[in-house]
Amino acid sequence: MSVSILGTTALVTGANRGLGRALVDALLDRGATRVYAGARRLESLAELVAASGGRVIPLQLDVTNADDIANAAAVAGDVSLLINNAGVVSHSFGAFDDPKWLPAGREEYEVNVIGPLALTQRFQPILASHGGGAVVNVASVVSFVSVAIAPTYSASKAATHSITQYTRQALRDQGTFVAGAYPGPVDTDMAERVPLDKTPAPVVAAAILDGLEAGVEDILPDPVAREMGATFFSNPKQLEQPASAEAA
Ligand SMILES: NC(=O)c1ccc[n+]([C@@H]2O[C@H](COP(=O)([O-])OP(=O)(O)OC[C@H]3O[C@@H](n4cnc5c(N)ncnc54)[C@H](OP(=O)(O)O)[C@@H]3O)[C@@H](O)[C@H]2O)c1
Repeated sequence: MSVSILGTTALVTGANRGLGRALVDALLDRGATRVYAGARRLESLAELVAASGGRVIPLQLDVTNADDIANAAAVAGDVSLLINNAGVVSHSFGAFDDPKWLPAGREEYEVNVIGPLALTQRFQPILASHGGGAVVNVASVVSFVSVAIAPTYSASKAATHSITQYTRQALRDQGTFVAGAYPGPVDTDMAERVPLDKTPAPVVAAAILDGLEAGVEDILPDPVAREMGATFFSNPKQLEQPASAEAA
C-alpha cells in the first residue's frame, strides 16, 4: 500500500532537530498540507514554525508524558500520518559493569519503545477515521545487531522493531500502513561521537518518505542500512526501494 504525502496531515515527534527536523522539511517539500511538530520545548520550534507559512503547528510533546500525548490527540485530530521519530541514547561508551547502563536502559525503553506505542494507541481511532492512514516508527540498524558502544540503546531499538511488527498486525484490519525505518549512522547530534561515515539527515528523511510513498514496510534509507538490512530481512520484497533512494 503506497502512502501519498501530497495533501496529507502529519505529526512528527522530536521535530525540533536532527532527523525529525529533516522529516518536517521533507514533508513540506512534498506537499503535506500541515505538519504537527512535536517537541519537549516549544521554543526550540520557533524558527521552524516561523519559516513554514502556517503549515507547521508546534505541539508540546514529551513522548513519555501521558498528558502531552492525550493533548496531542485532542489537538491533532486531522492527522493521517504519524512519524514516531523521537529517540534517545541515554548512555554510551561504558564498561560492562557501568552502573549507568541500568537507568539508561530504562529511559531508552520508555522513549524509544513505550513512547511510540503510547502515541500510536492514542492516534489509532484518529487514523481509522481518515481511512487508516500510516505510522512510521524510526528504529535503527542497531535493531538488527547490538553495538558495544550503546548496548541498552541497541536493545531498545530491537524492541522498537518488535513493537513495529506488532503494531502492523494490530492495525492491519483498520487499513493503517505501518512502516519501520532502519537508518545507519545519521549526521545528527545523536551520532556526534560515532566514528563512522554518516549520511546527512535530509538524505535519510527523503529516503524514508520515498519508502513510504512506494509502500515499503521495512525502509532501509542509506547504504549502511541497505547492507545490514539485506541479511536481516530475508524476504526480498521488503528490500524493494525506489530509484531515488538508491541514488541518495
Ligand atoms: N543519528 C543516528 O545515527 C541514528 C541512526 C539510526 C536511528 N536514529 C534514530 O533517529 C531518530 C532521530 O534521532 P536523531 O539522530 O535526529 O537524534 P537527535 O539529533 O539526538 O534528536 C533526537 C530528538 O528526539 C527528541 N527527544 C528525545 N527524547 C524525547 C522525549 N522524551 N519526548 C519527545 N522528544 C524527545 C529530542 O528532543 P530534545 O531536543 O528536547 O532533546 C530531539 O528532537 C531517533 O529515534 C534515533 O534513535 C538515529
